[in-house]
Amino acid sequence: MEDLTKNIKRVIFTEEEIKARIAEAGREISEKYAGKPLLLISILNGAFVFMADLCRAVTIPCEIGFMCAKSYYNGTVSSGEVTITKDITQDLRDYHVIIVEDIIDTGRTLAAVVDKLKQRDPLSLEVVTLLDKPSRRVVDFKADKSLFTIPDYFVIGYGLDCGEKYRNLPYIAEYGE
Ligand code: IMP
Ligand code: MG
Repeated sequence: MEDLTKNIKRVIFTEEEIKARIAEAGREISEKYAGKPLLLISILNGAFVFMADLCRAVTIPCEIGFMCAKSYYNGTVSSGEVTITKDITQDLRDYHVIIVEDIIDTGRTLAAVVDKLKQRDPLSLEVVTLLDKPSRRVVDFKADKSLFTIPDYFVIGYGLDCGEKYRNLPYIAEYGE
């Protein structure tokens, strides 16, 4: 049997650290959007774990939607192409929208998604990302809220993959051969 932890260089953020930051973000979101129609939109697949935990840290009524935005990778390097392969069904004119993302690397994926969603005229739109690698940006893009900022590491776990594996690790780790 292959060992799930074989290619882990080290754990960067533990389950407890992630949980604490998400609780804080959930409180902030709940205060900011109290009494407003709120829609959380997650970008699959990477953000599914983050969305599951963040939405349960939000204590006001909200709706949840999922999109797929695929950026193409050769191993661990982004090729720059982004396609929307699954879309949400809600009419965004009725909602304050928060995009819930796993990681911002080059910024290409989110720049494309935000562009597309803004054209649908939401009441407001902000981006909350679990992780941010600002040193890797190739397009000018800034999240409204970033829970953790990291250097140029390739990370796995807590929804993040390498070759579609490791999403089920409960913590965030640096990947190493
Ligand atoms: P971007 O378009 O380059 O900002 O990155 C988009 C997507 O690349 C993210 O949503 C992730 O799915 C993936 N990605 C970027 N960096 C990493 C990483 O360190 N580990 C796993 N996936 C990553
Ligand atoms: Mg992603």
